[in-house]
Amino acid sequence: MRALLDRLEREHSLSRDEWVFLFEHRNAESLEYLKQKARAVADRCFGKDIYTRGLIEFTNYCRNDCLYCGIRRSNRNAERYRLTREEILQCCEDGYALGFRTFVLQGGEDASYSDEDMVRIVRSIKAGFPDCAVTLSVGEKSRDSYLRFFEAGADRYLLRHETADFEHYRRLHPPELSPEHRRECLWNLKEIGYQVGTGFMVGAPGQTAECLAEDMLFIRELEPHMVGIGPFVPHHETPLAKEPGGSVELTLWCIGVLRLMLPQALIPATTALGTIAPDGREQGILAGANVVMPNLSPVAVRKKYELYDNKICTGEEAAECRFCLAGRMERIGYRIAVSRGDHPSIRKED
Ligand code: SAM
Ligand code: FES
Repeated sequence: MRALLDRLEREHSLSRDEWVFLFEHRNAESLEYLKQKARAVADRCFGKDIYTRGLIEFTNYCRNDCLYCGIRRSNRNAERYRLTREEILQCCEDGYALGFRTFVLQGGEDASYSDEDMVRIVRSIKAGFPDCAVTLSVGEKSRDSYLRFFEAGADRYLLRHETADFEHYRRLHPPELSPEHRRECLWNLKEIGYQVGTGFMVGAPGQTAECLAEDMLFIRELEPHMVGIGPFVPHHETPLAKEPGGSVELTLWCIGVLRLMLPQALIPATTALGTIAPDGREQGILAGANVVMPNLSPVAVRKKYELYDNKICTGEEAAECRFCLAGRMERIGYRIAVSRGDHPSIRKED
């Protein structure tokens, strides 16, 4: 086990069989070994800095019906909302004052925002906050739409591949969504020039060691700048309500091996991880993550962006989360950086 982890650190890749072996034979002792190594790698690349992104959940309308997701269109009990461009800009203004230099606009796939609307929103943020990065996370779009958003100034795009095993993908999604198209979107985003983030849910129903091995091989191939992973957490209004959620232990394992595979990647300690354990985000950092993404959405809409049950930080103001997280990071020996926090391979002129 240790020899395999050592080799992953040295060579940044493993064969499919080796990945399966790693996922099947992990134990408490190897997790400790992995965490130590992964944190040392992250410290070498990023020091004690933890990057932060202000997450603005601007719409919970979604045309899709992913089986795991609380804002799926068949959830008739979700109270739907949309933020206007002015409301989004207000979130950025509040966030800027709190030290955020990256804004992540995330939402369901909501056709009521046309490409033109998205372009206008991105342009306004870039004009108002020229030293900030804009990340979009609005699902699957045409290459042309991605290009227009990029030309408007969007810097990064988050689109988790969700699972790299095609059979598994089909089990978690309705037939109109295809894993092939999801991948095509990711390749398009990369080719256009975005800093790209992919990722998956840990412990999603039906996930096996083989699925996780496929995830690692796909991530190795895509070489994304960011990898967002968090535990699957059931939502009571979805068909997967009664399924068990993902574990802290497996999530930490995944964060650790991702750090060894992609030493410079931006890897968040996710809100979902903070939801299943009170110190989940701290544990994520200590296993090799280097990003936190507190919520900047107006408190009035927070509870409505409920992807899964018991999501944390739905009652707190942005400032409360910002200071809470700063304290959490300091207590484990890290500090929140006031910077865009680009991938180390990206050199900005400014
Ligand atoms: N619509 C965009 C998209 O599909 O990429 C962005 C929003 S989507 C809700 C953001 C992410 O939430 C998904 O990629 C998924 O991995 C995660 N998610 C959804 N339901 C979840 C659940 N029950 N537990 C954990 N994560 C979940
Ligand atoms: Fe939101 Fe701690 S991060 S209250």
